[in-house]
Amino acid sequence: MRIDIISCVPKLLDSPFSHSILQRANNKALSEVHVHDLRKYANNKHNRIDDYAYGHGAGMVIMADPIFNCINDLKKERDYQEVIYMTPDGEVFNQQIANHLSISCENIIILCGHYKGIDQRVRDEIITREISIGDYVLSGGELAAAIVADAVIRLLPGVLGDETSALTDSFQDGLLAPPVYTRPKEWKGQEVPDILLSGHESKIDEWRLEESVKRTQKRRPDLWDSYLKAHPEVKETKQ
Ligand code: ADE
Repeated sequence: MRIDIISCVPKLLDSPFSHSILQRANNKALSEVHVHDLRKYANNKHNRIDDYAYGHGAGMVIMADPIFNCINDLKKERDYQEVIYMTPDGEVFNQQIANHLSISCENIIILCGHYKGIDQRVRDEIITREISIGDYVLSGGELAAAIVADAVIRLLPGVLGDETSALTDSFQDGLLAPPVYTRPKEWKGQEVPDILLSGHESKIDEWRLEESVKRTQKRRPDLWDSYLKAHPEVKETKQ
């Protein structure tokens, strides 16, 4: 998968892709992330990419042309399945969207917003999907773009050492993940639950599911409600 990120502060994206799992994905040629400086596509001598908003009140807005020029150049080289704009008024990112992007996209463009956003006409003409990472406003879309790219790249086949580990992530089955433990068996008076030392695989799976359910009911009643709707048989056993 190739991800092209367009930003007016590209330095913010220097580091997230050069470490750990994302670096390994890149080294194994499973993913490529390219960051493009929007200012290079300004069509004026001062490299300006923003201007005052029409109407009163609002601040600076990124102009349509630099974005159009950059995306057009990229599209000359290859097809893109999605052109995503990171914005707090987009659809809220979740594991389902990450799964969808990792399965169905070969090439993705992610455009990072800044200031008061981008000219609406770009959103209407070029953007295929608008994503928010949550109900709060960041100073720009770069960190949000890195979050989306991370969540998508780690799902690509071969990226995680143990292929099953993404399947047991929180949210993959609609529940939060259960607690995990490692050595030592006893730490500050607290023991690892006996069941995990029993070697009894199916009993351990049952315990993990129960813990996932308890955690989801307690911490995320909204997720639990959705899980019950998707699994009516569970509701019966709970009543
Ligand atoms: N840009 C600023 N805030 C954002 C958010 N919450 N999600 C995505 N992009 C953003």
